[in-house]
Amino acid sequence: MSIIARDNRIFVLETAHTHYVVGIDADGRDRHIYWGAPCDPADYDIPPVVCENPNHPALDEMQQECTVFGSTMYRDSVLKATFADGCREILPVFDRAAVGDDRLALHFRDKHYGLSYTLHYRLFPDSDIIEKYVSVQNTGTEPLVFARLFSGELSFPSPEVYIIQNTNGGWGGEYRPTQTPLSGGTLVFESRRGISGHNQSPSVIAHHHATEQAGEVFFAVLAYSGSFKVSVNRDVYGVTRAVLGMNDHDFSFTLPAGQSFDTPRLYAGHTRGLGEMSRQLNRLALTHLLPPAFRDKPLPVLYNSWEATGFDVSAQQQMRLADIAADLGVELFVMDDGWFGARHNDHAGLGDWQVNRDKFPHGLNELIDHVHRRGMGFGLWIEPEMVNPDSDLYRAHPDWAYHYPTRPASELRNQLVLNLTRPDVQQYVFEAVDALLSEHDIQYIKWDMNRPFSETGAENLDNPQMLYYLHTKAVYDIVDALKAKHPGVMFESCASGGGRSDWGALSHFDQCWPSDNTDAIDRMAIQHDFSLLHPTKVMRAWVTDIAGPNKPCSLEFRFHIAMQGALGLGGNLTRYTPAQRELCRQRIALYKQIREVVQFGDLYRLADANEGEALINEYVSRDKTQAVCFVSSRGTRFFKKRMPIRLAGLVPNRCYRLEFQGTTLEKSGAYWHNVGLSVYIRGAEYNEIILLRQTAL
Ligand code: GLA
Repeated sequence: MSIIARDNRIFVLETAHTHYVVGIDADGRDRHIYWGAPCDPADYDIPPVVCENPNHPALDEMQQECTVFGSTMYRDSVLKATFADGCREILPVFDRAAVGDDRLALHFRDKHYGLSYTLHYRLFPDSDIIEKYVSVQNTGTEPLVFARLFSGELSFPSPEVYIIQNTNGGWGGEYRPTQTPLSGGTLVFESRRGISGHNQSPSVIAHHHATEQAGEVFFAVLAYSGSFKVSVNRDVYGVTRAVLGMNDHDFSFTLPAGQSFDTPRLYAGHTRGLGEMSRQLNRLALTHLLPPAFRDKPLPVLYNSWEATGFDVSAQQQMRLADIAADLGVELFVMDDGWFGARHNDHAGLGDWQVNRDKFPHGLNELIDHVHRRGMGFGLWIEPEMVNPDSDLYRAHPDWAYHYPTRPASELRNQLVLNLTRPDVQQYVFEAVDALLSEHDIQYIKWDMNRPFSETGAENLDNPQMLYYLHTKAVYDIVDALKAKHPGVMFESCASGGGRSDWGALSHFDQCWPSDNTDAIDRMAIQHDFSLLHPTKVMRAWVTDIAGPNKPCSLEFRFHIAMQGALGLGGNLTRYTPAQRELCRQRIALYKQIREVVQFGDLYRLADANEGEALINEYVSRDKTQAVCFVSSRGTRFFKKRMPIRLAGLVPNRCYRLEFQGTTLEKSGAYWHNVGLSVYIRGAEYNEIILLRQTAL
């Protein structure tokens, strides 16, 4: 890992296995030179661009790190600003470079106006991922208004048509992958909803039919939870570029004189195979991205009563569930919706964060003490960005929700979004949650957000089109401030399932709820697809009672799927038979033995049930001394008898003892990689766990 600067003109960012090369041309413009396998750094040069025909100006052909709107550049830009005199073009000139061991900053300024901007890069040890983003500074005396303020631009090196991978999911079916060959024109993936949402992903992946193990993969994730835009274009020369950032839909951004602004971070990488992409992102999240307080700690096994009780919670019933949960080995007991205000259903109560005394006559501490006495932590659900019109909060402050005085406010789930750009609303939300955490010994907050924005009027703002950004920032700031004051509290990001599970959320929340869909069969796909760009550790996965006659699914099968993330239980434990409770005890005990490998290890997706008949996921500890492999299938067809499972990620010349269906075998890592284990995957709900442990050297 190093940054090689040649003549203050060419900068080679050397990652573990790649070069990312940027340059400054004779006109002082930034240029993207190369991204891929390393070459001799002395060989890189800035390719000339020539105007062969006035309809194809040279400037429009360039590959840049940060295209600005102006002159004869018609491609998608990263920055577009309007100056006080009405000029809408930026004309940059290179100022200087600041080169450190792992950081590079390239400073530019406008030739005429008081606008400077900086391209920031950062490298990480043993990684092929680069952090990059743009910051802008208003060095003039008048406000600057940006119509576009993206985080950066990427150019992919091959002239061949790339397959662009993103998602096309929805509530209950998040992260469903979509692949589109882009031979020309522009492909856009975005959210206009105020949150990153369930549908498309703030990321880009480009490859040529890459598999898990092979093929060049270029990718980037945007660390931002608000409305985003990813725009990928292939031009007439066969150059494929992407720009990513805060969505410019219903957007403008005023930067007052003397102020600067950092755009959200991009994490961009190049790997061989999609599997290595996921592993590198996973490692970066575990070492750099996730909030530090719980980054290195394994996440506890939790119980959440939402699917068992709905809104109908009470002290006695929750204590009864807590008794059973503790007996099964659960470590954290989380009470979900329904405990506050007049919250008997989803029509009322949001905003009134006082305990409902009919349901909890002695307050929450009675339950919390009960839970603690049983050795478990206590967690609580809140949805602090929201208000029901039927609430004391709304009756007192009807102007606190986003609205236009002349338009009816659209309710979704009978609720409105609070205008979190108002300092008084921010203060209310902070104080409400702070009071809960100060008056109760709480270890965990599930922070929910259950509807997209609408009627986004914000009369308090000079520039209301900044509200998408300001709201997102307010959520981050409030969570950070609560964490600073209550450092022992873990936070989970939830938005009707996976509506806010992006890399921005994961820089502030310790984990996320990937989907409201807890059907283990559907989760086989949802979790597989989640793992592409998200760290395993943050993925909360519950064993619930969703296993109806249409999709029978044993309790053990449900456990084996949920054990592939941060395990939780969500069923009605009072209805479990003694045999089911015993199974829970055994599976939770096994999970505690293997969770360090699952939560912190490298994931190898050996088989995908979306494509074949089995889902096979292997997790290998970072020191490669242990591995655990889950094999799950809904049943095989055509009398297929035997399937070799060729393991991955082990050290070839070390010896590993493998445990499978009560037998043990000792072989080298090379053997397990190349020959593998023969298994008969049979039956309607096949699920087995293979355990490997390195024997003494
Ligand atoms: C959302 C969440 C669920 C649950 C309910 C409670 O739908 O995704 O997990 O917390 O809200 O109302």
